[in-house]
Amino acid sequence: MSGEEERRLAALVRAHDRWRGREVFNLLASENAVSPVARRYLGSDLAGRYTLPITTDFHGDTIDNSYTGTRYTDRIEALANAAAARLFHGRFATTRPLSGHIAALSALVPLLPPKSRILAISPDDGGYDGYAPGYIPAVFGYTVRPLPTEGPGHRVNAEVAADTIRRERPQAVVLGQSFFLFPYPLREIAEAAHAIDALVLYDGSHVLGLVAGGEFQDPLREGADVLYGSTHKSFPGPQGGLLVTDREDLFRQLDPALVWRVFDNAHWNRIAALAQTLLELERCGPEYARTVVANAQGLGRELSRGGFPLLAEEEGFTRSHQLHIDRTRLRSEANLGAGELARRLERQRLLIDLVGRIGTAEVSRLGLVPEEMPRLADLLIRGGIRGERVAHDVLAWRRTFRKLRFA
Ligand SMILES: Cc1ncc(COP(=O)(O)O)c(C=O)c1O
Repeated sequence: MSGEEERRLAALVRAHDRWRGREVFNLLASENAVSPVARRYLGSDLAGRYTLPITTDFHGDTIDNSYTGTRYTDRIEALANAAAARLFHGRFATTRPLSGHIAALSALVPLLPPKSRILAISPDDGGYDGYAPGYIPAVFGYTVRPLPTEGPGHRVNAEVAADTIRRERPQAVVLGQSFFLFPYPLREIAEAAHAIDALVLYDGSHVLGLVAGGEFQDPLREGADVLYGSTHKSFPGPQGGLLVTDREDLFRQLDPALVWRVFDNAHWNRIAALAQTLLELERCGPEYARTVVANAQGLGRELSRGGFPLLAEEEGFTRSHQLHIDRTRLRSEANLGAGELARRLERQRLLIDLVGRIGTAEVSRLGLVPEEMPRLADLLIRGGIRGERVAHDVLAWRRTFRKLRFA
């Protein structure tokens, strides 16, 4: 029985790898493809190991590690942290957070005591659900107040943000969105926040790969105190998180407070794979990020030209890897919901999410360039809006992309 289950499991994993790795175009804005070397490290011996350098044990003694056998593990982690610090322009980094959500906790829990007041963008305006009152704030006793946005692109206006900060007097302004098209007026926000001693925490989960490549914006140099986020959305690494700051006072407060509050084991195979991706982006990041954004803007223009309803057209659609579907027009013009559209496209081997985002990070890694956006837009329009069968054409085209770029 168990042998049969094992064979079934092996067949499922093989089928998944074939389907997602070779037979679809993945336009999910939250995902990316991991480089071959990083994948190898994920499967290395590190996958089963522990290390815990410099800890304070239950009796208050400082010990250099709770484990032996860690001579290489610790150097791999140090290398990853140094690469993260260099790439994101801070002096201090940790690659231990296990995801973007855990990276958010890694910043908030040590820096903001219970009852703190935070400003964050509401999920109704494209903000991350985790910062909504019922989630992270409920667990840690924070009051959360909305940072307003404007227009279909959910932009933050500098003056409105500064007024809101002065009125609400939060301990921290948490920036970052799940629906994230345009950069923030960060210098003005940081000036207003720092004038009342509030921290500026930048959740770069969605745009981290663009920031790494010098696109979108440079949060730490523009005034954010801490940058953190997921390492697997526009950043093409293994699933995980990281946190970077240029402020030694904050890092000293933050780093020792994380172990046993936010995580213990940090998955050192993931950290080795992340280190590899950070080094790959030091080499190819600018070209990667430029391609992702140019593809998103080009795809936006072509989709719109073909009648596919998108938001923020007057603003050039996007400055990130995301495009946002105009769900009201989708309903009125094509009689479709975003979920129905996504399911229809999935049957045609084109993956987008069910909440109205299209992302160009993974197709850019596959090797698609702006000149190919008319062809991709045509498949999305025919397969999604007109309900035509395009799966065969998609598969034939997909099979011509065999090697990941920027890896
Ligand atoms: C802005 C933002 N922050 C944090 C997260 C959580 O990321 P993860 O899934 O890596 O925990 C997300 C996930 O979509 C997000 O959009």
